[in-house]
Amino acid sequence: MAKLTKLDDIVSLCKRRGFIFQSSEIYGGLASCYDYGPLGVELKNNVKKAWWKNVVQMRDDVVGLDCSILMHPMVWKASGHADKFADLIAECKKCNTRTRVDHLKDKTNEHGEEHTEHVAIESVSGQNLINKICPACGIVGQFTEPMPFKLMFETKMGANIDDSMTIQLRPETAQGIFANFRNVLDSTRVKIPFGIAQIGKSFRNEVTTKAFIFRTREFEQAELEFFCEPGTDMDWYNHWKETRFKWYTDLGLKKENLRFREHDPDELAHYAKGCVDVEYKFPFGSGDWQELEGIANRTDYDLRQHQRGMRTLNKWYENDRDLSKIELASEAEDYNKGPLSYFDEQKKERYIPYVIEPSAGMDRSTLAFLVDAYDEEEVRGETRNLLRFHPALAPIKVGIFPLVKKDGMPEVARKIYDNLKKYFNCFYDEKSAVGRRYRRQDEAGTPFCVTVDGQTLEDNTVTVRDRDSMEQARITTDNVLNYLRGKLDM
Ligand code: GAP
Repeated sequence: MAKLTKLDDIVSLCKRRGFIFQSSEIYGGLASCYDYGPLGVELKNNVKKAWWKNVVQMRDDVVGLDCSILMHPMVWKASGHADKFADLIAECKKCNTRTRVDHLKDKTNEHGEEHTEHVAIESVSGQNLINKICPACGIVGQFTEPMPFKLMFETKMGANIDDSMTIQLRPETAQGIFANFRNVLDSTRVKIPFGIAQIGKSFRNEVTTKAFIFRTREFEQAELEFFCEPGTDMDWYNHWKETRFKWYTDLGLKKENLRFREHDPDELAHYAKGCVDVEYKFPFGSGDWQELEGIANRTDYDLRQHQRGMRTLNKWYENDRDLSKIELASEAEDYNKGPLSYFDEQKKERYIPYVIEPSAGMDRSTLAFLVDAYDEEEVRGETRNLLRFHPALAPIKVGIFPLVKKDGMPEVARKIYDNLKKYFNCFYDEKSAVGRRYRRQDEAGTPFCVTVDGQTLEDNTVTVRDRDSMEQARITTDNVLNYLRGKLDM
């Protein structure tokens, strides 16, 4: 089986077939920002739909949410992002390129793996950079002292000088869920254990980008915060590990390209009880295996922090809304009875729930599904390029063609198209030889093509061609919808 072995091959396939373009390309592009083209937007929407179906629709214990990107600055004080969400960077004294310290390679380990999305500042301070190579100019050990680089984008809200304030673009969707925990409890009948899920854009002013849509400054996350009783948390952690891994393989990612990487105790945030990454073997980057999703046991940390944040609000006003001047209020002694606690009716007990968080990148998953589906095969002396997408992810589900553009065939094919497009994303094509039309749909990953030919006009049957086997079945026109529904499982 052929593989896309270079990032350049992937980028060029994506551009050629309208999956992904460089943002603002007509102006020379904007670094690390990408646009999804006609096929790409369908693919990514299908990835998001598949996530939502698996995590929300098919479960009785998860509800959805869609929070705003802009949130009260105190959210980021309480979550820890305002003070700690930074990468340690060092500048090369020779070429002035700034690199994340945790991404610098040792002279003896140039191809080592890089795992972390971002590193707590204190965990790498004082690092010895004597053996590290500058990835831009290749010189060894010529770095400045490491310094923190804040990752949150800032903007101004409000038009008047006295009421305008600095606010941040969210660096993760999770905090919107914690901030709405009480609202969801009060407005629905959810009972612990239950989860709140959301998909949305997040923003990080990343230092290292490069690898196409793998690490960008604007990206989409699908996050679940699953609230459970302390003591049951490790069982739920294991449940979500299994569930999330299965989601990728059920949607066609090859098992040999997926693995778990459990975090070492010294990698864990101080509040986390466990964290595992689902990694995919991307055919690029310094060390193949790269994170698609993190699954963490965040204990009761976030809800407790927000209780502290709520108690600090007055200080924020008193200090001219300057986050750097305030300290979070200490935790009240009866914090487990605070505003973000949960009352268990059966046990007559109040506590702050623990949280299991599976957090997936939708752009990264889209890239993994694309790379994994790519295939090349020899067919009668010609190379056939195809994307073997799972039907649920395929941007176009059915291509509909008249064999030739005459003898009433286009009219019949159009009628079939008008009917099928009510149910699936379809593509009608009557240009060029039918073999070329099949090849174009193979390259777009379309699982089925329906062709109207001379026989259709005689016995009301059409051919349905399977992308993967290239076999054709002959079925009556009236039966096409049911046949495809069964095959596509929709
Ligand atoms: N709330 C937890 C959290 O945000 P994270 O590991 O920082 O955890 C979760 O991010 C996922 O979001 C990652 O596994 C990755 O798939 C995606 N992600 C993070 N930063 C990204 C970036 N700069 N570009 C694309 N995807 C990113």
